[in-house]
Formats: sequence, C-alpha cells, structure tokens
Amino acid sequence: METGLKVLITGGTGSVGRELCKFLTEQGIEVSILSRSKRSNSTYKTYLWDHENFLIDNNAFENIDYIIHLAGAGIADKRWTESRKKEILDSRVKTTALLYKALSKSKHKIKGIISASAVGFYGQKTSETIFKEEDQPGNDFVASVCTAWEAAVNKFQDLGMRTVNLRIGIVLMKKGGALEKMAQPFYWNVGAPLGNGKQIIPWIHITDLNRIILQAIRSPQMEGPYNCCAPDPVSNAEFSIQLADVLGKHIWLPKIPTWALRLILGNRAVLLTEGSRVSADKILNTKFEFKYPKLLPALRDLLPSKP
Ligand SMILES: NC(=O)c1ccc[n+]([C@@H]2O[C@H](COP(=O)([O-])OP(=O)(O)OC[C@H]3O[C@@H](n4cnc5c(N)ncnc54)[C@H](OP(=O)(O)O)[C@@H]3O)[C@@H](O)[C@H]2O)c1
Repeated sequence: METGLKVLITGGTGSVGRELCKFLTEQGIEVSILSRSKRSNSTYKTYLWDHENFLIDNNAFENIDYIIHLAGAGIADKRWTESRKKEILDSRVKTTALLYKALSKSKHKIKGIISASAVGFYGQKTSETIFKEEDQPGNDFVASVCTAWEAAVNKFQDLGMRTVNLRIGIVLMKKGGALEKMAQPFYWNVGAPLGNGKQIIPWIHITDLNRIILQAIRSPQMEGPYNCCAPDPVSNAEFSIQLADVLGKHIWLPKIPTWALRLILGNRAVLLTEGSRVSADKILNTKFEFKYPKLLPALRDLLPSKP
C-alpha cells in the first residue's frame, strides 16, 4: 500500500480511467480527476478544464505527485470525418499543451506525467514485423496522432518532469471497452473473424494495464515509451475462436469481408482489419510480470462462463 501519494487523472471518467481510479484508490493512492464536466455522483474530487477555451482549474495541481493523462475523444467511436479527426487530435495534443502551459506557470511538486498513447503509433498494417519501442512511427492517421501526442508529453521534460508514454493495445475489460463490442455478435450467434482474420490483435487485460501504470508511478527509472500489450498477441481469427469457446458459441459464419466493414465503418475499419505484433520485451525487462500473459485466461476472467 502507498501512503501519501496523490495523482491527478485526466479522462478518469472513461472506461480505462474508471477502472484505474478504483485500482489506485485500493492501493492507497489519493485520486482526483480533471474533466470537462462535474458529475454529481463522482466518488473522486473533480476539477474542470476546457482545452478549447484554454481554461483549467489550477487548484487541480495542489499536492499532486503524478499526472496520468488518459483524456481523448474515442478513436474508434465515430466515422473519421475531417472534423472528427481534428477532435481526436486536439483532445489529446491540445489538452497536453494546456497542462504544460498551466504547469510551466505554476508552483507545483509534480514529478512526472504518465500518458496514454497507443500501439497505433507503429501504423495500422499487417506485417511480419514485431514492433519495438525504438521503431519509427507509421505514416497513417492514428500514427500521426500518437506521434504528436507523445511529442507534446515529452515537452514536460523541460519542466524537469519524468515522462512515460504507454503505447497501449486493445484493453480488455468487463464493461465499456472493445471486448463488450467484440463479444456482442457471438452472444447473438453471428460472431465471425473480421477481414482475412490474419491481422494481429495486440491486447492487454485491464488489470495488467493498471499494474503497469502503478509500476510507472513507483519506478523513477521508468521513462520514455513502453508497449503495453500482453506477450501473447493473437490473430483476429484465433481471438474469435477463443472468444467463441469461452462463451460456449460456435462460429458458423464465414469471415466478414474487409469491404463490408469499410462500408459500415468507413476508414476506421482499418483498426479492425489490420494489425501487427508488438513486443512486450521492454516492460518485461523492468521485471513486470503479467497476471494475464495468455488470452484464454484473460477472457475467462472477464466474460461470463459458458451456459
Ligand atoms: N481503451 C482502449 O482499448 C485503448 C487502447 C489504446 C489506447 N487507449 C487510450 O487510452 C485513453 C483512455 O481510453 P478509454 O478507452 O478509457 O477512453 P474513453 O472511455 O473514450 O474516455 C476518454 C475520456 O477522455 C475525455 N474526452 C473524451 N472526449 C474528449 C474531448 N473531445 N476532449 C477532451 N476530453 C475528452 C472524457 O473525459 P471527461 O468527459 O471527463 O472530460 C473521457 O471519459 C485514450 O486516450 C485512448 O486513446 C485506449
């Protein structure tokens, strides 16, 4: 148990944020949230910000040791129109710049910022490559967002702060994450692999992501980018088989073709139809031990068991 540590979490109201707030509180860390709105039922002290109007409540930084930056408009939530793409970028980069500006002007004792990024940094492409942290970014939309986001976070080094960029894979959790959406067709007996099924899904169980963030808070030697994916990524086809197995369902439909997904989702279909392996070696070399290194036990933990 930690005592006396305080963290401020942006995006603490989101699906990852809600789980993280609960987890860190259980570890004895005091949690407060920076949000665009106050929720009357929130358990956590909430401060307000508005990056579009450059507004932020500076009281949020009082006695804070670390900032965990998770805020950002959902990348897969809506079609990638030009205005949505701008929102996805601004909600990450401009929020980071607002935090930077506020901290560069105020007296505080914040030691570091631990920020979400995504495996999309490497580009959304199926290949034989196993991406490592030192690899160059990809050249698609999500890669450009992650690159700008990480660069904005790295600027905090000028303020003497430690910076950690977590390149997160698909976070598997009970409520609110991608798994709910992935499992739904299987409940309806219409689940099937997507695209050609060969694309890799770099995934992580929420418990392990929370534990990596806790380790990043506790370990002053952790700095820079870290891939946050279980060491056992699987193809979309394998993921579908294991998902069906855990739910006690059969896959009887053919693969859902890429063109159909593009028709339904637009350009963001690439998030489902392309993907490569991402190495977990760097985080493993910090002596981090995954509680869920394999997919099947992770799915069994998160999904209701077979009827
Ligand atoms: N979930 C995953 O599988 C996954 C994978 C890789 C990376 N990530 C990254 O991890 C972070 C957290 O993910 P999540 O799934 O918890 O996201 P989420 O559920 O969509 O929540 C993100 C939070 O960001 C804030 N937000 C949303 N739209 C915003 C906007 N236009 N401007 C400013 N703030 C906005 C909201 O907080 P308020 O309403 O309180 O302001 C929201 O609760 C995200 O940055 C995401 O890109 C997630």
